[in-house]
Amino acid sequence: MSNLSETELIHRFKGISFTTRSSPELLKSLDTFDVREDDVLLVSYPKSGTHWLAGIITKLYNTQVTLTSPIEFGDVSKLEELNKLSSKRIMPTHLDYNMLPPNFKDKKCKMIYISRNPKDTAVSMYHYYRENPNLPTVDTWTAFFDLFLKGDVVCGSWFDHFLSWEEHESDKNILFLFYEDMKKDLSKIVEKICLFLGLNITDNDIQEICKKSSFSEMKSDTEKENSDPSHTVCALTSNRKLIFRKGVVGDWKNHFTPKQNRRFEEIFNEKMKGSKM
Ligand code: A3P
Repeated sequence: MSNLSETELIHRFKGISFTTRSSPELLKSLDTFDVREDDVLLVSYPKSGTHWLAGIITKLYNTQVTLTSPIEFGDVSKLEELNKLSSKRIMPTHLDYNMLPPNFKDKKCKMIYISRNPKDTAVSMYHYYRENPNLPTVDTWTAFFDLFLKGDVVCGSWFDHFLSWEEHESDKNILFLFYEDMKKDLSKIVEKICLFLGLNITDNDIQEICKKSSFSEMKSDTEKENSDPSHTVCALTSNRKLIFRKGVVGDWKNHFTPKQNRRFEEIFNEKMKGSKM
């Protein structure tokens, strides 16, 4: 719940809603971003499991790596800050493929896209909106459901975001992951990530990392770290309890009415006609 008006919290850039935490100047200057070939991008639509993935990836590296906040969060000084980092950079982003700084594409940086059932994503985002003073107030689930389907939420339409990245699914430098697959068999997905990143990790270490990356472990780490706001990938909140909410598959069933489900399916089928999903 926010005391600020919508215009104080949200602005539009190239037709997509961003919070005022992403300054228009930064968004404009991202195109000149100094990309390094060994940068790794963690790409997601919000609430798809970005923190989970980031937690796993930082544990996989033995060498010093820096997990930054999303490249599009902050003001223009952000670019300079990122430039100063001497260690390997693991950088999250919620940008859709078309808005990604071209240097990342030209340099063929490794990118991992994590996706999640959009129904669960919508529910997770609803709770995030409800609890986060940096986002506009939404009164009811019904109201948020409409906004989500219209793409009138931060980062725009889930469908457009997913489709823009899915088009590049077979690019060699992009790995596509699904939240639900991670829930089903995390070690299998971690093996896939290691292979993609060229990391040699023993089976024992993979098992250990999976244990430390369970929802309950990550949530309790969070409670210990809560006093340190820098320990969050999401620059929209320093309250990590907001990020580790339920961590389950299928929570949408507790929110969607049968009518909403039918409407969602109709729109999903229409928008995703050309998709493999
Ligand atoms: P819920 O709100 O459904 O619980 P993001 O990091 O992209 O903001 O995504 C947040 C969602 O990922 C939240 O979903 C959160 O609980 C879930 N999540 C975070 N860590 C997780 C983990 N270790 N295992 C499963 N889900 C996790």
